[in-house]
Amino acid sequence: MKDFASSDASEVKRAAALIRSGELVAFPTETVYGLGANALDILAVEKIYAVKGRPAGSPLIVHVDSIEMARTLVRDWPENAEKLARKFWPGPLTLVLPKEPHVPDRLTAGLDTVGIRVPSNAIALALIREAGVPIAAPSANRFTELSPTTAQHVRETLGDRVAMVLDGGHTTVGIESTVLSLAGTGAILLRPGMVSQADIEAVIGPIRVSRSAETAAHPAPGMHPRHYSPRTPLVLVDDGILPAGKGIYLWLRHQVDSARSVKMPDDPRAYASILYEKLHEADAEHLDWIAVETPPQDASWTAIRDRLERAAAR
Ligand code: TXA
Ligand code: MG
Repeated sequence: MKDFASSDASEVKRAAALIRSGELVAFPTETVYGLGANALDILAVEKIYAVKGRPAGSPLIVHVDSIEMARTLVRDWPENAEKLARKFWPGPLTLVLPKEPHVPDRLTAGLDTVGIRVPSNAIALALIREAGVPIAAPSANRFTELSPTTAQHVRETLGDRVAMVLDGGHTTVGIESTVLSLAGTGAILLRPGMVSQADIEAVIGPIRVSRSAETAAHPAPGMHPRHYSPRTPLVLVDDGILPAGKGIYLWLRHQVDSARSVKMPDDPRAYASILYEKLHEADAEHLDWIAVETPPQDASWTAIRDRLERAAAR
């Protein structure tokens, strides 16, 4: 991520004015770029669904600049929300809570809950503050495709369909936020992310993990089996056994001399921060396949395995 420069301040002002007037602005967060609109403006929210090509049944998450702004959107702010927000906000944890009636149903896909987070990216925070409204933003990609981690990724796929793209360089976390529901009795992990189950349990005690999208009444969009996919078929491989044809191989332990290969970082945080970037690069080459070595089974790799398994699902 590049530093917040003074030149960014005027860009942010312009972007905030666009948000207030009902336009779409793509902006960096620490996870992936978001496709933002005023969360309380139904017509602006409609535009997000249209540009993303997203089914109406998928709720959007709302970005706020503070616990205070989060509380304006929810009926109830349980103690666990307070504890988690104090520990992980600003940061890559989305909390799902019962919504206030003034939060548009269109935004939450008819659910009576809303997903909220405070992003830690300086440009994102400045944008929300300057706009003075909560900003709804899914990842700034077309539905089911790879999430963007640079402004260039956004321009390539959504380009002229957004009023403005704020450029914050590379995102740092690199994969989407952890999504945790606090709306029912007991917390439920809906989407794994780099704030891990263990990180959350250290703060609020044992939580449940949603077993699969197919069994949930309202599967979250990130839970669709095929999601986060490059256009090039992605295969998970063990022991360096690669498909026939031409491709790129992202490896951890088993290098293969004959393939074009990219050594991926052994540390899961470093791995996550460059994963989508590498997949975007490989995808741009129109190869027969992208092979990725199956990451280790330890809990610290759960979110990365989740994204890769979904990307490999066809
Ligand atoms: O890191 C991120 O979360 C990025 C950046 C831009 O903040 N956003 C993102 O948004 O990934 P999207 O729309 O691609 O995914 C939104 C996720 C869904 O997977 C879903 O799990 C959850 O938010 N979500 C939102 N509202 C929900 C609700 N009311 N109930 C359950 N899940 C909800
Ligand atoms: Mg997404």
